Amino acid sequence: MAASQKFWVLLVIIGNSAIAEFRGKLRDGCPMIMYRMLLAIIGLALFSAAYAVDNRPRNLSAPCFACHGTDGNSEGGMPVLAGMDKALFVSQMSDFKSGARPATVMHQHARGYTDEEIKLMAGFFEAQKRK
Ligand code: HEC
Repeated sequence: MAASQKFWVLLVIIGNSAIAEFRGKLRDGCPMIMYRMLLAIIGLALFSAAYAVDNRPRNLSAPCFACHGTDGNSEGGMPVLAGMDKALFVSQMSDFKSGARPATVMHQHARGYTDEEIKLMAGFFEAQKRK
């Protein structure tokens, strides 16, 4: 056997025993590893549940701030949306959408949102403190 062949045979033997040892350790330690992984997964789930904030209602409402003020607290002559009753908000937006309520610009804005999105915005503005 040439020297280089001996080297490869030795490497394979060492490699195999190392793998066998590793697998043995893995099997012995399995319940502990699984237990730790389970803990990690539970921890991660709790963490993300606690910190997950749904930004969609605010993101949908942000373009409205330009006229109706930040968080719906208008400073000028525009109607204040902060703290507006959810049902009233939805009915106003539906009336703008259908054209039942006369408007200058709100027809255009209202038509850009689905009923579901209008409900999300209604919840957002209702939850804002009127200043
Ligand atoms: C370009 C300025 C402008 C923007 C942007 C705007 N609005 Fe308006 N909004 C108005 C004006 C002006 C009125 C009064 C009705 C009209 O003339 O269209 C109004 C009225 C309203 C009303 C009725 C309030 C009341 O008390 O009668 C609601 C509800 C409303 N807007 C919601 C929104 C929402 C939600 C958005 C964002 C999607 C929005 N507006 C974006 C200008 C704006």
